[in-house]
Amino acid sequence: MSFKVSGSELNDPLVVKFITENASFAGQVAGDQIDEHRKKVLYPEYLGTYKPEEEGKYDNFKNVDGAKNDKGHLGDPTFKNLFPANSKVKTLDLSPNFGTEIEGIQLSELTDEGKNDLALYLETRGLAVFRNQDFRDKGPAFAKQFGEYFGPLHIHPVSFASENYPELLVTYRPAGGPERYQAQFATTTNSAGWHSDISFEEYPASFSFFVALEAPPSGGDTVFIDLREAYRRLSPPIQKFFETLTLIHSNYYQNKFAKIKNYPARVKGDYFTEHPLVRTHPVTGEKALFFSRGFVQRVKGVKPTESDAILNFLENHVLSNPEIQVRAQHKGTDSKTVIAWDNRFLLHTAIADFLQHETPARHHFRITVLGERPYFEKEAETNGESNGHSNGHSNGHSNGHSNGHSNGNSANGANGLSLNGLSFNGNSNGNSNA
Ligand SMILES: [Fe+2]
Repeated sequence: MSFKVSGSELNDPLVVKFITENASFAGQVAGDQIDEHRKKVLYPEYLGTYKPEEEGKYDNFKNVDGAKNDKGHLGDPTFKNLFPANSKVKTLDLSPNFGTEIEGIQLSELTDEGKNDLALYLETRGLAVFRNQDFRDKGPAFAKQFGEYFGPLHIHPVSFASENYPELLVTYRPAGGPERYQAQFATTTNSAGWHSDISFEEYPASFSFFVALEAPPSGGDTVFIDLREAYRRLSPPIQKFFETLTLIHSNYYQNKFAKIKNYPARVKGDYFTEHPLVRTHPVTGEKALFFSRGFVQRVKGVKPTESDAILNFLENHVLSNPEIQVRAQHKGTDSKTVIAWDNRFLLHTAIADFLQHETPARHHFRITVLGERPYFEKEAETNGESNGHSNGHSNGHSNGHSNGHSNGNSANGANGLSLNGLSFNGNSNGNSNA
């Protein structure tokens, strides 16, 4: 069975016709309607518009020393600066394995030492859901500055962004009722889009900070998958085999969707980027199965039928197991939630389960920090993945691409892959972003 690349439905002219004729498909709004929407939202400064003059304005971003400079190296394993001894912090683990809800600290007040601990915390727990944050009221300049502590920030090629702050990606599903459901599910039965943020980039995301501005009272959650556990569940021969594989990730269909919608591309180019299927974390040394479903097109260097079989196996293995998932709830506008995670070993998807109800908008912005270029480091296996929670691996991973997983990122469709309609995905509709 062939592997259905996300976004490849855009090769169907009837789907394209539907999208063209239904401006509200996937929850985005056309550029000429944005001023109307600004009047309706609680935080208009986080609702940007597409500007034709932004076409091609930015370049790709690199983070060559990302592994070495990761702030998690500086974190204290006791997290004493994130959870000071005298603080009244309450935590609730979403599962024993990853994900924690946290109340009682303000992200906006963290010292540098606290931010270092936060980095290490995300690198071990994976996901943190912070309640009662004042983050959204600090303004976009603060958000940008906060994110930059952790590394260079990504400017998304084609997603919505905040006014004057292209580094702040915006997801926006307008307030409304069942008409949204009709539009969303007219051409599909399922709008989940599992992905690791911007995995099509040569230097994909380390951390994402997803800040709720408005949210439905329930629903619209973000669900996460632990790719470390997805790797650990495999038998040793399959682990070894997967460690030899390289996947090709692409934003091709995401760009195609943007073209259909007439969104200008701030960064131009369809990327066909190579990343190892098994990647090593630069701080913990843990291995994860880097299967960013929404952006994966195919397995490099094998025949199409073989690629399809491997990717279909991964889809079933990674995405179909509730035992390796947790759910982060936004819990409405007043819970002031900020969700943060490490994209290097988590997948996530937004959940469009509220569209048939009358709800307020689902409006968030995301700060996306660039991580290192993904690499697989063979030596890590001699240490065993179970040891990875301390800082024991904190040095020496900075240039780990020397292990032969080919030279990642051949941009602009090069690479001799004549893909002709073998799609890859592209998380094509912006709403699947968290
Ligand atoms: Fe996302």
